[in-house]
Amino acid sequence: MWAMSMHNQTTQMNIPLRGLFLILCVALIFSCSSINKPYNYKRFPDNYAEIKHEYETYYHLTACKPGETIASIGAGDGITEIQISCFVEGITWYLEEIDSSRLYQFEDVLTYHEKLIGSSIKADFNLVMGTENSTDLPHGIFDRVLMLNVFHEIEYREGIMTEIHQLLNEDGVLIIMERIGKKAGEIHGDCKYPKLMEPGFLQEMNDYGFILKSEQLGEEMSNLMFYTFESKI
Ligand SMILES: C[S@@+](CC[C@H](N)C(=O)[O-])C[C@H]1O[C@@H](n2cnc3c(N)ncnc32)[C@H](O)[C@@H]1O
Repeated sequence: MWAMSMHNQTTQMNIPLRGLFLILCVALIFSCSSINKPYNYKRFPDNYAEIKHEYETYYHLTACKPGETIASIGAGDGITEIQISCFVEGITWYLEEIDSSRLYQFEDVLTYHEKLIGSSIKADFNLVMGTENSTDLPHGIFDRVLMLNVFHEIEYREGIMTEIHQLLNEDGVLIIMERIGKKAGEIHGDCKYPKLMEPGFLQEMNDYGFILKSEQLGEEMSNLMFYTFESKI
């Protein structure tokens, strides 16, 4: 009898609580759907959990640390760097591109992510226009230079790769993320550039004066690899 009345009491209390929960869910759905995506692009997350998943699955492999000064060559609209900054605070970023239309999208992508997570992102962002042959980035200040899905698109690699030695500070490292081919002749689905094959890529990096420090698999199916290099110059 006691147990039953307790059960009833609980049920009675649950009805208003359930109502409140439903109202909160509906409010949340409406507040999320009111954040318009800056442009139609499949990589935009719909919620914080998706950003966290991307970071914990892939981008933590860039090993970016709080307070570092980091250049990203070929940063596109800066979405990856913005997402890393949701989890690693106080980075001073230099986002470099040769396509100004990608850099113009940056502010909207930042605003979108800040609305999604409900707070400002604690990082400094500097946008830099480079050229095919030169990054135009300041020398000697970078703890880390990132090239995320970019190396295979660079037409005049020698100039850019040689310049990176001058960009890094004494302990600086270069992180290259690439989807590496599993067999010769594979091409990237989006840009149609040929995929790199690992032996040729590592030989090329050695010729540019970089020592491989570590390599990590980010995702098996597309053979997404993260390489860390040190300068031997
Ligand atoms: C596949 S997108 C990757 C963009 C971004 N890193 C990302 O992961 O979303 C490659 C980018 O590299 C840029 N790019 C190509 N050649 C470049 C060069 N020489 N210097 C700087 N960026 C370059 C392109 O404009 C393009 O935005």
